[in-house]
Amino acid sequence: MPEFQTSPGMRDILPPESARWRKFVEVFADVVGSAGYGQVISPLLEDLGVFQRLGEATDVVTKEMYDFVDKGGRHIALRPELTASVCRAFVQHRPATPWKVWYAGSQFRYEKPQRGRYRQFDQVGIEVLGADDPHLDVEVIALGWEFYRALGLRQVNLVLNSLGEPADRARYVAALQAYFESNLDALSAESRATLQKNPLRVLDSKRPQDVELVAAAPRIGSFYGVEAGAHFETVQAGLHILDVPFVVDSKLVRGLDYYRGTTFEFQGVTLESAQNALGGGGRYDGLVESLGGPATHGVGFALGLDRTLLACDDEGVFAAPPAEVAVFVVDTTGGAEAMRLTTALRSAGISADRAFENRSMKSQMKAADRSGAVYAVIVGTNELSDGTVVVRPLRADRTDGDGQTAVARTELIDHLKKAMS
Ligand code: HAM
Repeated sequence: MPEFQTSPGMRDILPPESARWRKFVEVFADVVGSAGYGQVISPLLEDLGVFQRLGEATDVVTKEMYDFVDKGGRHIALRPELTASVCRAFVQHRPATPWKVWYAGSQFRYEKPQRGRYRQFDQVGIEVLGADDPHLDVEVIALGWEFYRALGLRQVNLVLNSLGEPADRARYVAALQAYFESNLDALSAESRATLQKNPLRVLDSKRPQDVELVAAAPRIGSFYGVEAGAHFETVQAGLHILDVPFVVDSKLVRGLDYYRGTTFEFQGVTLESAQNALGGGGRYDGLVESLGGPATHGVGFALGLDRTLLACDDEGVFAAPPAEVAVFVVDTTGGAEAMRLTTALRSAGISADRAFENRSMKSQMKAADRSGAVYAVIVGTNELSDGTVVVRPLRADRTDGDGQTAVARTELIDHLKKAMS
């Protein structure tokens, strides 16, 4: 075993898988770009305080943060998510509202690694700051849904809930606390500990001992004021209009504390339930204020890239794009001609590769086949003195099957462009 390997929960993403990651982000950028979202690129590190605003009752903050004191004595952390960073950037730069942005990148959480749960993982996401229209919640959710369609994923369930206005939520949390406290003996020890920190999270418990109690717990629906009720109705009606299927689950509480109003999760049907959240989000009115900005409404989601690709594998969709070049240059005259030709081809927009180390013709042809190239361009001593090259089709599936042809060196680029069009 080599002396150095990746740390637990961290992975190298090698070709061709890495090409799939890039394509994932490209597809996402296309989907949200078509709705007017612009990309925000923010630092991997922020002042620890930025993430502490996510709530002191969140595991992400209390247990999972990669934080340290830097050489300048600042207490900083690797970002565990991007919503707080986007809000920090909003407060710092004060852009015009509504501010519609998207992002992509790595997040860090010190979690117990397992399939679909890593310490460094990637997300793509969007946030909209500065507007409270329920149609915006619909736009945000529908874009997530549209992205999964664009990947080809079909086995995704959208689960929806609303946590009400802050006052509704507070009354609900108090009722929930009273309910669980009056049934404390029946509650698992783990859930009793959770109750002290965040009664809402007890609803998340999947422990057999808690199932009955959680099922009979008060429901948020009966705590909505008029405003929250109407907002939630409009969101649901909008999703119906757009034919985005969803189920309402009043027990859906998300892992982060900042949510108010609409919350939602995209769940992968093929994944194990502990890791089945492909993505999620909701409204988080209040986060910008807690970071020192003006009262600002916010809504958004983040989708886990790693987990979504596992779901794609399960469904056999969104495979890695084949790593291939269009042309492979085989040069038996020493390699300088291959150097000239590959450079000229690439400049003309034709991807090209070659062999090195002056290999034999046979070995270079083998490399050409392995490369997935559509054509081999072959130069031997005769061709070099004639000013020609031989163009040989390598893939019956991608060419007319015409045999090899000698082409004047000066005609090569036109010839290949025509052949490949
Ligand atoms: P989150 O639910 O913590 O939300 O993460 C979103 C998604 O990131 C999850 O559904 C999951 O797919 C992926 N994810 C989270 N942790 C891991 C992990 N350890 N390994 C692999 N994938 C993981 C947020 O991060 C919020 N910022 C979402 C949001 C945006 N809410 C409003 N705006």
